[in-house]
Amino acid sequence: MLLTGAAATGMDSSVTPKRVCVVGATGTIGHATVAALLRRGYHVVCLVRRDAAIAGATVRRVDVSDPRSLAQDGFAGERFDAVVSCMASRTGVATDAWAIDHRAQCNVLAAAQAAGVAHFVLLSAICVQKPLLAFQHAKLAFEAELTVSGMRHSIVRPTAFFKSLSGQIERVRSGRPFLVFGDGTLTACKPISDADLADYIADCLTDPGRWNRVLPIGGPGEAITPRQQGEALFAMLGRPAKFRSVPVGLLDAIAGGLGVLSRIVPSLAAKAELARIGRYYATESMLVRDPVTGRYDAAATPSTGSETLFDYYRAVLDGAAAPDRGDHAVF
Ligand SMILES: NC(=O)c1ccc[n+]([C@@H]2O[C@H](COP(=O)([O-])OP(=O)(O)OC[C@H]3O[C@@H](n4cnc5c(N)ncnc54)[C@H](OP(=O)(O)O)[C@@H]3O)[C@@H](O)[C@H]2O)c1
Repeated sequence: MLLTGAAATGMDSSVTPKRVCVVGATGTIGHATVAALLRRGYHVVCLVRRDAAIAGATVRRVDVSDPRSLAQDGFAGERFDAVVSCMASRTGVATDAWAIDHRAQCNVLAAAQAAGVAHFVLLSAICVQKPLLAFQHAKLAFEAELTVSGMRHSIVRPTAFFKSLSGQIERVRSGRPFLVFGDGTLTACKPISDADLADYIADCLTDPGRWNRVLPIGGPGEAITPRQQGEALFAMLGRPAKFRSVPVGLLDAIAGGLGVLSRIVPSLAAKAELARIGRYYATESMLVRDPVTGRYDAAATPSTGSETLFDYYRAVLDGAAAPDRGDHAVF
C-alpha cells in the first residue's frame, strides 16, 4: 500500500503539525532540508531574501540583516517550534562571512528567542575544527553564541558535499587528466549527499541524542581521497587513469602574492581569501580531527545515509543528475 502525507511519516494527522522556520532554504542543503521536513509532515515557513517559489512551503521575504524585518516580516508574531538555519555566505570572503555566518545568524537567533522558539538547528561545517579562514572564525563565533543561548540546539558539521567533489567530471569525460594536489592522497573525506544530510538535519528535531551537541557527520562507506575520486571516474568511463599533479606550493605562491598585493590594491583581498580557501581544502581532510595529535580520523567520523559519491558520479555520467557547483570549488 502506498502511504502519502502524514500517514507516510507515521505522524498522527489529528495533531497540529509542528511549524518550522527555515533560513537558507534556497541553497543546496536548505532546499533538500525543506523537502525532508515536508516529507515528515512539518509546516515549513522559509525566510528568503528574494522572491522564490518553494513547493509545499510558505515563503516570506525578509532582510536577515534587519532585526525588525526578521520579527515583523519573518516570525510575524506566530508560533514556531523550531528554526533550521542552512544560511551561509555564498562567497566565504571575510566581510560576507561575518555579515552572514555570524551577524545575520545572531539576528535569526535573537528573533527566534523573542518568538519563543524551542530548538535551533544550525548547518555548520566540519572544517571549523581547524579554523584558519575568516568564514570558519565567523561560523565558530556563531556556534559559541548558540551554545550559550540557553536554547536547545543541534550544530551539524558535515564533511564534503557531492557538488564540491564533482568539478572534474566534464574535464575527465572530455579526455583531460584529473588534477590532484601532490599525489592526490594529501586529504580524504566521507562525502555526504544533499538528501542524506537533509534527512539527518530534519531528524535533529526529534532525536534527543542530537540535542545540545556538536554533530560531525559524513556519508556512508570509507573515506575517499582525491586520487580515488579520479580513479573511480576513469574506471566508470572505461579509460586508463590519467592524473596531473599540481604542487601545493603554487597555491601558496598565489595566496601569498595576492595577500601582499591586496595591501596596495585592497580589491584583491577577496581574491587572496579565495586562494587561501583553495589552499585549505587542498591540504586539510574533511574528517573528525583529534585536537591533541592534529590527525584526521576516518574511523571517528560518524556516517549516515545510503547515497555514495560514486553512485552520484555514475548518475551524472548517465545524465540522470547534474552537478550544482559550489562557490568554493577549487577545480
Ligand atoms: N560545500 C561543501 O562541501 C560543504 C561541506 C561542509 C559544510 N559546508 C557548509 O554548508 C554551508 C553551505 O551550504 P550550501 O552549499 O547549501 O549553501 P548555498 O547553496 O551556498 O546556499 C546558501 C544559502 O544562504 C542564503 N544566503 C546567503 N547570503 C544571504 C543573505 N545575505 N541574506 C539571506 N540569505 C542569504 C542563500 O540565499 P540566496 O539563494 O538568496 O543566495 C542560500 O539560501 C556552509 O555553511 C558551508 O560552510 C559546505
